[in-house]
Amino acid sequence: MAYIINGNKKIMGTVNINGSKNSALAIIVASIIAKDVVILENIPKISDVYDLIEILEYLNCNVKYDGYTCIIDSTNIQYKNLKIPQIKKLRASYYFMGAFLALFNEIEIYKPGGCSFCNRPIDIHLNGFKKLNAEVIETEEFVKINALEKLKANKIKLPFPSVGATINLILASTKIKGTTVLLNAAIEPEIIDLIEFLNSIGANIEMDKNKTIIIRGVEKYHKSKYKIIPDRIECGTYMIYGAALADKLTINNIITNQVRSLISIFVEMGVSMDIRKDSITIYKSENLRPVKILTGPYPAFPTDLQQIICSLLLKAKGESEIVDTIYLKRNTHIEELKKFNANVYIVNNSMFINHSDLLSGSVVESKDLRGGASLMLAAMMSHGTSIVNNSHFIERGYQDIVKTLVSLGADIRKDNQYD
Ligand code: UD1
Repeated sequence: MAYIINGNKKIMGTVNINGSKNSALAIIVASIIAKDVVILENIPKISDVYDLIEILEYLNCNVKYDGYTCIIDSTNIQYKNLKIPQIKKLRASYYFMGAFLALFNEIEIYKPGGCSFCNRPIDIHLNGFKKLNAEVIETEEFVKINALEKLKANKIKLPFPSVGATINLILASTKIKGTTVLLNAAIEPEIIDLIEFLNSIGANIEMDKNKTIIIRGVEKYHKSKYKIIPDRIECGTYMIYGAALADKLTINNIITNQVRSLISIFVEMGVSMDIRKDSITIYKSENLRPVKILTGPYPAFPTDLQQIICSLLLKAKGESEIVDTIYLKRNTHIEELKKFNANVYIVNNSMFINHSDLLSGSVVESKDLRGGASLMLAAMMSHGTSIVNNSHFIERGYQDIVKTLVSLGADIRKDNQYD
């Protein structure tokens, strides 16, 4: 499937941000720890969510989802082998490792799928499970983890504050007797959301300012109703789209504090904004200045926004540089941007982006979710018609993106004949 985009159109109006993809995915899996009915509000309507629901149903959970509220009844969940194709469709399926260890003390599961913009190892997850007394067998294709001797509490220092490993180790520790401590843990807002959800079903988890997470094991969990935080990456995406294309674009239903790193970059670039606690309005901004961006763990600039802001930087008067310190080679969008006549290039781990005001429509391939969002923006900034292939990547993470952009004035349609 592809998006056909007629570029050079202004966008204007209001966007309401949906629930956070990365929170929702972790919390949907975490809900099985309750072994009860959990009502999750503000769940985004994206394909990764539907894929996880399919896995829960396979495990004998009863799930009702109306495109906003997801009710998960895991009372009758059954242990099953997770060497099933759905696991390979998304990355967040690896959270079943932590959740299954908590519930069943074992798991056999395919390695996860998701965006493969570069090698994404899971050694920090697996070494963490070993430190909790689990035995891990890993092959090219799957992982078998056994904790039939029971998991044991421990103090684990993560070599890097990995989001996924932190979530997996929190999940695995929820029922362990005693106190498990994670040092150098990730502290992304989605991790805090997961902790708050787990505490709402009976967990006893605390986080201190020093990247330390303390999990006191609890045996029995219970039902809860919980609302997921807004998606800071979707918010950042529309802020960037607004800065590139809008006379005035208001982004509502956000937690402004969670996009501070992007706001700082916008200030440096000279983007004009009106900032409130839960909304931001972006105004038409001329003479944007180039910037240097280094991505890093929260609260630094998120890796998930670097590809997207790359397209906006084509409007800045001068040369910008981006180094993604989280994923050094998350740069497959650069070759595609060149097809629009963008003046971009890579030297070692730096992406250089130069002012390019004569972008022309092209046929390009999305290689991953955020790279796809970056190409959509370049297409909307270009003269003429573009075809952005592999739109399914973009739909893994953005609810109703075409409908939203069209309502703001963009000229985009989805076409099933390409790909
Ligand atoms: C999560 C997000 C993804 C985001 C990323 C960084 C989900 C489903 N995905 O991915 O959208 O881009 O955080 O904010 O929430 N690493 C290892 N070994 C490991 C784990 C990670 O070396 O076992 C490395 C990775 O290769 C990468 C860095 O640590 O260089 C960060 O990865 P991590 O924070 O784990 O990202 P994900 O959880 O995969």
